[in-house]
Amino acid sequence: MTIRAASAVLSLLCLTESASVVIRKTSQGPTGYEVDFRYVNVTAKRVLIGGGIQPFTDQFHTTGTSFRANGRYDPHDYQPGDFYVSNPSPQLPAEPAYRWPYEMTQSEDGIWTYTAPLPSGIYSFAYLVNCNYAPNCSIDTGHLVIDPDLPPFMNVQGDQVASSFQVPFDPEFQASPEINTNFDYALAAPKEHRGTVKTVNYTSPGSIHPEPDVHDFSIYLPAEYGSVSGKKYPLLYLSHGAGGNGADWENLGRMSHIMDNLIRVGHIPPTVVVTPSFYNLEADSPRFIYGNKSNNVPVPPAQVVRENFEKFLFPWVEQHYEVCQNASCRAFAGLSMGGVLTYEMFVNATDKFDYYGMFSPATNAPYIDAASVSANPGLLRKGIMVAYGLYDFVFPQARELQTALDAVGIRYINRVTPFGSHYWNTWQDELWWFGQKVLWKPLPFGVQTGRQGRRLPVS
Ligand SMILES: *[C@@H]1O[C@H](CO)[C@@H](O)[C@H](O)[C@H]1NC(C)=O
Ligand SMILES: *[C@@H]1O[C@H](CO)[C@@H](O)[C@H](O)[C@H]1NC(C)=O
Ligand SMILES: *[C@@H]1O[C@H](CO)[C@@H](O)[C@H](O)[C@H]1NC(C)=O
Ligand SMILES: *[C@@H]1O[C@H](CO)[C@@H](O)[C@H](O)[C@H]1NC(C)=O
Ligand SMILES: *[C@@H]1O[C@H](CO)[C@@H](O)[C@H](O)[C@H]1NC(C)=O
Ligand SMILES: *[C@@H]1O[C@H](CO)[C@@H](O)[C@H](O)[C@H]1NC(C)=O
Repeated sequence: MTIRAASAVLSLLCLTESASVVIRKTSQGPTGYEVDFRYVNVTAKRVLIGGGIQPFTDQFHTTGTSFRANGRYDPHDYQPGDFYVSNPSPQLPAEPAYRWPYEMTQSEDGIWTYTAPLPSGIYSFAYLVNCNYAPNCSIDTGHLVIDPDLPPFMNVQGDQVASSFQVPFDPEFQASPEINTNFDYALAAPKEHRGTVKTVNYTSPGSIHPEPDVHDFSIYLPAEYGSVSGKKYPLLYLSHGAGGNGADWENLGRMSHIMDNLIRVGHIPPTVVVTPSFYNLEADSPRFIYGNKSNNVPVPPAQVVRENFEKFLFPWVEQHYEVCQNASCRAFAGLSMGGVLTYEMFVNATDKFDYYGMFSPATNAPYIDAASVSANPGLLRKGIMVAYGLYDFVFPQARELQTALDAVGIRYINRVTPFGSHYWNTWQDELWWFGQKVLWKPLPFGVQTGRQGRRLPVS
């Protein structure tokens, strides 16, 4: 039996996403699952797996301030309570002191394989060919190859530089009294609950990608969409961060699976999600090329992006989809620089959205003050979440934002992701809780929002 036929059989028995990555339930330690990678390259001399996949650590050996201090455990040494944090630093020593755990071996001529036990979660990866130091291997130097058998979700070739797969949780091997690292809410829902997700080109005068005057976004339409005549759906805009684009949330964060599950479990009504792109909007801006580390394009100012979206993106979406037309059923959220854009929308497009999710927001002073609030009292009547990881490098900035909101009496829901660095497992967690605790909940928010029961009086 050929290897390809073997994986076809395996796919009937267990979970698999492609011939190149097979996820097998082993019902054995250390995680209950193993993942097999297989890559064919006859000219390669050495192949590492990188481009998003990380070593592990536990909470007792993670500081959030020093990558060197992280546990950096090999997946074969996984223990319940371990998780990955992503915090690459160019100051690390070269190998062998900095050993990369994901090293493929050549089993037959040109056939590279690697097997690891992995715990629950999403993993993105690419093959690092003839490159000895994983943090430095990038697509612009020609050392990073996207898995040809597992192409990323993207609009135009080159718009993403990593493929991804998700491993299920096995409570027998992964449950830990220290921390909950079950990400099964991002696994595919049963077929009848699955919405659709696709990329869309829209007219955006001045844009330089994917074509002159055309820009793009991705859209999630819930399973019910189109089956109820005349029905308009609540609408969430969900932004990527620096160095990303609108396909990130699906390719790297499995946004559609999280939405399917939020809707299926009844946390939110069917909701449409648009994930826009904030680079390459203007003809005079330098061209942003995804994954190109040498092409250091600055993040466009949030105000410029907001004005552009208000002019071209928002009207286009409202004309082409069955989405609601008022603030009470519209939300804006985003991660990192997308959190900055969300804050910009909150302050300067206050009447457009009633709900805001600032995920790992890289915001900075000056923040709104009492005078801005009295000039714009709508700021006090919004459903807001501020969320960030415990090991997130924007932790101090997110805290500052909270202090600024506290100072002017603006209520918000707070989530500190307990295993969280500035990465996709954190943002998945934040979207999941944003759906449960914030989206479309009654305004104004109070200390009882998202829960029942009594509250002790404040003396
Ligand atoms: C094989 O590796 C070379 C580098 O040695 C790379 O240029 C090429 O794209 C790789 N081929 C495939 C099929 O991945
Ligand atoms: C990685 O890249 C940095 C920045 O370009 C460089 O200073 C460093 O020497 C590189 N490290 C290795 C091990 O190649
Ligand atoms: C958007 O436009 C680009 C450039 O013409 C094209 O390659 C791509 O397939 C288009 N995408 C969609 C979804 O139509
Ligand atoms: C990456 O950016 C550099 C600098 O702008 C450019 O010279 C190079 O051609 C780009 N590489 C790719 C693969 O786009
Ligand atoms: C907003 O739109 C929704 C859905 O279209 C509708 O149910 C609701 O009554 C509208 N609210 C206002 C204030 O117009
Ligand atoms: C909002 O608009 C004002 C006036 O144009 C501008 O000064 C400010 O930077 C914008 N953004 C925020 C977050 O205040």
